[in-house]
Amino acid sequence: MKLLSVFVLAVLGCSLAEGRIVPKCDLRDQLLTAIRGLTVNGNHPVLSDADQVAKLVCHAEQSSGFNTSAVKDLPAGIEDTSHQGEQNWPNAGDPQNNDASSWQTRKPPQPWVLYGVFQLSNRLLCDDGVNPSINLCETSCSKFLDDDTADDVSCLLRFFGNSGSGATRPSIEDLLKMIHLIFQSECKDVQDSDYFAGCPPPPQ
Ligand SMILES: *[C@@H]1O[C@H](CO)[C@@H](O)[C@H](O)[C@H]1NC(C)=O
Repeated sequence: MKLLSVFVLAVLGCSLAEGRIVPKCDLRDQLLTAIRGLTVNGNHPVLSDADQVAKLVCHAEQSSGFNTSAVKDLPAGIEDTSHQGEQNWPNAGDPQNNDASSWQTRKPPQPWVLYGVFQLSNRLLCDDGVNPSINLCETSCSKFLDDDTADDVSCLLRFFGNSGSGATRPSIEDLLKMIHLIFQSECKDVQDSDYFAGCPPPPQ
């Protein structure tokens, strides 16, 4: 019995440390099913377009390589350079407020740590137990690193469907930063039909 639990712990420990590579089609199906569960009159307010699901899965591919245990540091202020010149940068086209430094003057930038297959922020979506966090998904960041991606999916969808309230209202800077990370430029032209061409038809 003792030997068995040591064995189980060792296997669990390994799978936690190494992560699982989630098949792309599985991630699509999980998202589609979860989105369907959230729809109002057949439409999700944000994610009703099939290409949006492809973009979210593309984001997972680009940011974590579909690795459920991926953890990455995002140094403070990195968004200032990584998105330079993008058309849809906030305030782009607003001559009053167009310099990259306006981002920093509004709020001192904080380093983020990104967790799991969708690289969710430790300051916005989960609690890492060390840093203050809005913790919009009311969960521990380590939960995003296990093999089960259901909580990652539901947190991602919650992020798009719930802007928080009162003390749990995130700053607009943090929201935009997370949105920019998720809708990264590498995925902006991704289309459902091409991106999932190798997948079986989605669940009905
Ligand atoms: C997944 O990421 C973890 C943490 O970065 C790493 O240790 C592991 O080797 C990765 N697994 C695979 C299969 O790439």
